[in-house]
Amino acid sequence: MPYAHITGWGMAVPEKVLTNQDLSKVVDTNDEWIRDRTGIRERRIAREGQYPSTLGADASLKALDVAGLSPRQLDLIICATSTPEHIFPATACLIQDAIGADKAGAFDLLAACSGFIFGVNMAAQAIRSGSIQSALVIGTETLSRFVNWKDRNTCILFGDGSGAFVLQASDEPGGVLSAVMHSDGSGGDLLTLPAGGARHPASDFTVHTGMHYIAMDGKEVYRFATKVMVQATREVLDQSGLKIEDLKLVIPHQANLRIIETAARGLKLPMEKFMINLDRYGNTSTASIPIATVEAAEQGRLEPGDKIVFVGFGAGLTWGAAAVTWTGPLSVEHKPNIQREKMAARFRSFIRRSIRRVEGFLNPKELD
Ligand code: UT7
Repeated sequence: MPYAHITGWGMAVPEKVLTNQDLSKVVDTNDEWIRDRTGIRERRIAREGQYPSTLGADASLKALDVAGLSPRQLDLIICATSTPEHIFPATACLIQDAIGADKAGAFDLLAACSGFIFGVNMAAQAIRSGSIQSALVIGTETLSRFVNWKDRNTCILFGDGSGAFVLQASDEPGGVLSAVMHSDGSGGDLLTLPAGGARHPASDFTVHTGMHYIAMDGKEVYRFATKVMVQATREVLDQSGLKIEDLKLVIPHQANLRIIETAARGLKLPMEKFMINLDRYGNTSTASIPIATVEAAEQGRLEPGDKIVFVGFGAGLTWGAAAVTWTGPLSVEHKPNIQREKMAARFRSFIRRSIRRVEGFLNPKELD
């Protein structure tokens, strides 16, 4: 049975920074409250023309560059997102086209902030089954478009960004060792985006009552989060035969520093063992774990062979964790030129669109 290794990682965040100070000018809040209660200092906000797919494609190309893998070698793309570009087509398909992953099947996965862990687990299982060789898992968000900037309970928390992993098959032991995925739909009402789906399609009423914005019972989500972070971490450690002291790093969902501190106390692990960057990005939902991983790698906190745990929770309710032996890129004979691949992808996409148009023009009655 092949092993599923994480061989590439990349991130992309908007350039625009929104500080707590900036927020205090638009809503009744202040820097001290936000830092004390959440640990967040600033977050990134997408500019016009920046979408989950554009950020996702940038993060993906960086991940492919690290892995030394051409987009055309990808078999599968899973895009975890809480803020899909459309209900359909899937954001994964937009990214597939943008990077030119012509061979890959692509779909979105909706498990809110746990989505990236669920996606990594699904990709790893497909690789271990032998049905695919390589996968791209993306977490990508523009939450700023779904935040009510008048609601101080939510607007201080969220930010935009994207992160991606490449997973590849190898006979070398390691990679994703174990993973758990959990859900409890009875808590679905605690964190929701009520309108825009089939129950409350867009209407004057939904727009006027703000039903297209994120709504959250912060206290209940907090209580749930502190419990499941510890529980899910212990589960994946047990399943992979690891002990807590074997862990080099825990990379948690970056929602609130106090939630992570409570989890650290529950696991009896020092805070140095936790990767934290929520102070600079806020909660980027599905993107928070891959963005934190990229920064951990850049800071030299991840070496091949290190044992790490990813753990997260989110709307649904959902929660999960994965225990991993960190690998790094597999050896490759020819490293692809990712920028050239990107241009070639645009060209192939243009040709395919043109052919479709010409075929439609020449054979308008083909379906009769
Ligand atoms: O990916 C999952 C996403 N969600 C989460 O992870 C959310 C989990 N929950 C949390 O992180 C926390 O519950 C919050 C950060 C959302 C809130 O922190 P809290 O310590 O639970 O505050 P609270 O809601 O109990 O509010 C305490 C006080 C209230 O005032 P009173 O009633 O005590 O006078 C709030 O009105 O703080 C007030 N408050 C604020 N004050 C300044 C609430 N939001 C703000 C604010 N600025 N932004």
